Amino acid sequence: MVDTLPHEIVTVVGRTGSGKTQLIARLIGPRHPRRITLDMVGECRKLYPRAVRVTDLAALVMLLRKLHEHNVSEWHVVASLSLADIGALLRLLAPAGEGAEYSLSAAFGGVTLEIFELDVIAPVDRSERETREAVRNAYARGRHYGLSILAATQRPHQMDRIASSQSSYVVTFQMHEPADLRWLEKVGGKRFAEIARSGLKDYQSAWYAVRSGTVMLLHADYKTWETVK
Ligand SMILES: Nc1ncnc2c1ncn2[C@@H]1O[C@H](COP(=O)(O)OP(=O)(O)OP(=O)(O)O)[C@@H](O)[C@H]1O
Ligand SMILES: [Mg+2]
Repeated sequence: MVDTLPHEIVTVVGRTGSGKTQLIARLIGPRHPRRITLDMVGECRKLYPRAVRVTDLAALVMLLRKLHEHNVSEWHVVASLSLADIGALLRLLAPAGEGAEYSLSAAFGGVTLEIFELDVIAPVDRSERETREAVRNAYARGRHYGLSILAATQRPHQMDRIASSQSSYVVTFQMHEPADLRWLEKVGGKRFAEIARSGLKDYQSAWYAVRSGTVMLLHADYKTWETVK
């Protein structure tokens, strides 16, 4: 199942330290050859020691152009960008509107974007409007350009709703905050929220497949799957 994930939009939720970043890094990220990781807090330095690092958008775009020019198909860039630059990057990966033809994602034949702290990048209640619009567009239209998104948040209820509505999988670790549990219930139903509240062990995650409505548990070893009735 995890092998199919690079072509999907996946939202991972869980309180701080529950294992979101490790899950993405261990299971999903390494399987995709063309990846951009947005790192707002510097935690990816340890996780991805071999990735190329850039600290501004101009450098990232220059690097991507070079990789494309030299036909390099397997690469991984970790980018520490400002919110405004993240918005601009998303507009290059998944341009808005019909007439916008040039897309970096399409040029590469598909890019996977890893976003940590999505609630900071695309919050419901703050005014970073331009970035939020760019995120919304990337979620809504990104697949059209071959963009896959893997995003994580500690506070799903504070994240723009488009992220859950466009996700093919919502993955949750243990959650306890009432607002987050209500969010999980809205996305995956009562049972899914119950599993998140009391049915998960440390580092175990529940995977809600939006299309089929099924829930799978993934154990902390990253190998054992179990279907929940
Ligand atoms: N399956 C696992 N088995 C054992 N340890 C794990 C597992 N997953 C994560 N950890 C450990 O738990 C710690 C926190 O994990 P991680 O950074 O992935 O959490 P997070 O959900 O991304 O936290 P934050 O919200 O603060 O970013 C790390 O030290 C990591 O090594
Ligand atoms: Mg993390």
